[in-house]
Amino acid sequence: MSAEWDKTAVEAEFGEPYTNFMNFFAISGSTRKLSTNTAMLRALSHIAQPVHSISVFERIGDLPVFSPDLEMGPLPKPVQNFAEMIRQSDGLIISSPEYVRSIPGGLKNAIDWLVSRDEVINKPIALMHASHRGDDMLAQLRMVLTTVSSRFSDELFLRFDLMKKPPADIEAYLAQPENRLAAADFVSRFATYCGD
Ligand SMILES: Cc1cc2nc3c(=O)[nH]c(=O)nc-3n(C[C@H](O)[C@H](O)[C@H](O)COP(=O)(O)O)c2cc1C
Repeated sequence: MSAEWDKTAVEAEFGEPYTNFMNFFAISGSTRKLSTNTAMLRALSHIAQPVHSISVFERIGDLPVFSPDLEMGPLPKPVQNFAEMIRQSDGLIISSPEYVRSIPGGLKNAIDWLVSRDEVINKPIALMHASHRGDDMLAQLRMVLTTVSSRFSDELFLRFDLMKKPPADIEAYLAQPENRLAAADFVSRFATYCGD
């Protein structure tokens, strides 16, 4: 927590008391080093601090290709870690690019690993998106998330047009007052949803 943290100012910005601390897990659907979706989630995590914690997961590429056979014995370590981080979180935020008008294989694979388990079934989930394009992917992802979780929120959604921007520009873009306010409002509304 930074030394110059002003609790009153943070509470005023978020419109909620600091005691409503939430621990969110944010999954990026992109494995690209300079991913706009990952950079946006990182910027969101900085805005949320210290009212809420957002751990950004950008390692879906570490998960093996799902097979029901691999669920028979002990789970592969990356899957165990991934599932445990979801279990410990109060809610998931997912942000993904569109690939070939659909969900990127890596993200769909990550979701497939969760389907026969209990971590995600009642987990609150909201979507973000770092592009003005990708509505086919978003429609499919909404359908999939509605299927795997009883608490996917269709209403909570935040989108910025960040396509092709480098991570430093994305951090600066979200720091602009209007965007920062929209991001803080999204986090705050998701925290309320998670607490309901
Ligand atoms: C293999 C591949 C397929 C893509 N297919 C689409 C597509 O169907 N529609 C679209 O709008 N963009 C498509 N794109 C562009 C990405 O969705 C876009 O660049 C996105 O912003 C990348 O997100 P990232 O910066 O988080 O990696 C594709 C990109 C790649 C690499």
